[in-house]
Amino acid sequence: MTLDDFSQFARRRVDHYLTQNLDQYVPANHLQEAMAYSLFNGGKRVRPMLTYATASLFDDINELTDACAAAIESIHAYSLIHDDLPAMDDDDLRRGKPTCHIQYNEATAILAGDALQTFAFELLSQSHHTNASLKLQLIQELIHASGRHGMVTGQMIDLTNVGHDINQQALQQMHQHKTGALIRASVRMGAISVGMLDRNNLTQLDRYANAIGLAFQVQDDIIDITSDTNTLGKNQFSDEAANKPTYPKLLGLEGAQEFAQTLHQQAIDAIKPFGDPAQPLVELANYIIGRNH
Ligand code: IPE
Ligand code: IPE
Ligand code: MG
Ligand code: MG
Ligand code: MG
Repeated sequence: MTLDDFSQFARRRVDHYLTQNLDQYVPANHLQEAMAYSLFNGGKRVRPMLTYATASLFDDINELTDACAAAIESIHAYSLIHDDLPAMDDDDLRRGKPTCHIQYNEATAILAGDALQTFAFELLSQSHHTNASLKLQLIQELIHASGRHGMVTGQMIDLTNVGHDINQQALQQMHQHKTGALIRASVRMGAISVGMLDRNNLTQLDRYANAIGLAFQVQDDIIDITSDTNTLGKNQFSDEAANKPTYPKLLGLEGAQEFAQTLHQQAIDAIKPFGDPAQPLVELANYIIGRNH
C-alpha cells in the first residue's frame, strides 16, 4: 500500500468512527457543530495513521484500534482549538479556514475543546469494548500523553517561555511534552489495541515514536518559516510574531533542518528490527520530515 492509499484508508476509517459516535447526541446543536467543525476541517490525520500502522504490525486492526485513533484525534482537535484562542497563540487561521473561536465565538470554542477532550475518553471507555484491562491501559496511556504529564504541560512551558531565550535541553523538554507525547501515544496505543504488550517491542516502538514526535514539532517550527500561509493553512511567521522559542531560533534554520534529519535517521533505525511490515511507519517518518504543511 502506498502512503497515499494508507492515508486514505486511515482517514476514511477514523472519520467514519468519529461521525458514527458524534452523531449520537445532539441537544445543543452549536456545541456539536463546533466540535464537528474542528474535527472534520481537513487535518492530516497523522496520529490515526500512526495508530493504524503500528497496530497492523502485530495483528488485524479492530474496533479498539478505531477507538484509539479517534480518541487521539479528538484530543488533538481540542488541543488545537485551545492553542488558537486569544489567550494562547491568538491565531485566526487553521487548515485554511477561520479558527474555531473566529467561526463561532470564544466561549463556544472553549466548550467545544472541553467536550472533545471528554469525547476521547467516552470513545475509549465504551462498554462494548469488552477487554477491561486493555481498555484501562489505553485510557491511562491517553491520560498520560494529554494531561499534566504530556501535552498540557508542554503548552504551559511554551506559553511561559514567550519572549525568553531557552537552551536546547529546555526546548526539547517543551517539544516532547507539547507534541511528542501524543505522537508517542498514537504509536503505543496502536500496539496495545491489538494486545501487543511485550516490553521489548514497546521499548523499540518508543524509540521510533520519541524521535518522530520530536521531529514533528521541529518540522512544524521549520515550516512556520519556510512555507507560505496558503500552503500552511495557518499564518506564516506566527511563531516569530508571538516571540515563541523554536528550534530555528535556537539552532538557525539549517541547524534545525539537520537536527530533523538526525531524528529521522534515529526513527528509521529504531523501526528496522520489525522488517518489511514496518514500511508504513518508515514512510510516515519520511512524510513527517518532508511535510510542508
Ligand atoms: C499541528 O499538528 C500542531 C502540532 C502539534 C505541531 P498537525 O500538523 O498534525 O495538524 P493537522 O491536524 O494536520 O491540522
Ligand atoms: C501546538 O503547537 C501544539 C499543541 C499541543 C496544540 P503550535 O502552537 O506550534 O501549533 P500550531 O503551529 O499552532 O499548529
Ligand atoms: Mg502553540
Ligand atoms: Mg499555535
Ligand atoms: Mg507551530
